[in-house]
Amino acid sequence: MMKPLLFTLFSQGQLIENICSKFDSQLEAINFHEFPDYETSVQINSNIKNCSCIIFETFHHPNNKILPLIFLAETMRDLGAKDIGLIAPYLAYMRQDKRFHPGEGITSRYFAKLITNYFDWVITVDPHLHRIHHLQDLYTIPASVMHATKNIAQWIKLNIDNPILIGPDIESKQWVIEIAKEVNAPFLILEKIRHGDRDIKITIPEIERYKTHTPVLVDDIISTAKTMVETIIHLKKLNNHPPICIGIHGIFAGSAYDDLLKAGASKIITCNTIPHFTNQIDLSDIIFDKLMENNKI
Ligand code: R5P
Repeated sequence: MMKPLLFTLFSQGQLIENICSKFDSQLEAINFHEFPDYETSVQINSNIKNCSCIIFETFHHPNNKILPLIFLAETMRDLGAKDIGLIAPYLAYMRQDKRFHPGEGITSRYFAKLITNYFDWVITVDPHLHRIHHLQDLYTIPASVMHATKNIAQWIKLNIDNPILIGPDIESKQWVIEIAKEVNAPFLILEKIRHGDRDIKITIPEIERYKTHTPVLVDDIISTAKTMVETIIHLKKLNNHPPICIGIHGIFAGSAYDDLLKAGASKIITCNTIPHFTNQIDLSDIIFDKLMENNKI
């Protein structure tokens, strides 16, 4: 089987470098040009006729990326690519999965429709599946999900003594239970009520039982960090150990990182799906294994 060609428009950092070295190849060159009027063009410099092409793009700040990405996929199609896959370590627009207020759109569906129109397959890491349980219910192309739980569990085992895993809301249960099992540690799932983008209330039952444990907060996304900040504020009243915060996808909108530190987090750790200096958990192995499993490489 001929090796697929690997491309990216906007991604850089540890994860894509590690994937390239596992591929034992380099990224193919693309000329990406922005005109004075902010229109853009892409130019592919390799011969891709009859080749399988894989685009690696992680979707924090997705709006600026999506149109150039569609142009890239369409250019590949025009130049005779055999098939075009998308590795999206962080998949955006997964949280607006219902009409929360009258008149709103369900953007998770619209974003999925866009990707589905231009790509032959997609793989991603822990997408925010809540009311929609399977990625295939949104994405009608082959869509695979990888989980960061084993990698996170490994990091906790190596770095934290006597942890109690804490999930800030019911959605986090899916990750927290799996990680707790791997680490062989207790866990608590809290109740979160969201009143607005930055207005959240958390309740913490039973934490008194774990006064001597180190709280390890785990969530899929850290965006404004309000969810974790609220959790820490409550925890501080009940447990003396400064908590460790682990996010799979660290978006860190605005002052989120500093807010978490100020609230009392002793460490903030993320997986490397979105490049950030908190990246300490590499996921290139699960991505590479999934590509092998799906016969993409
Ligand atoms: C939503 O329920 C997610 O699992 C996260 O809890 C949420 O996206 C975190 O957002 P923020 O950091 O803005 O509180």
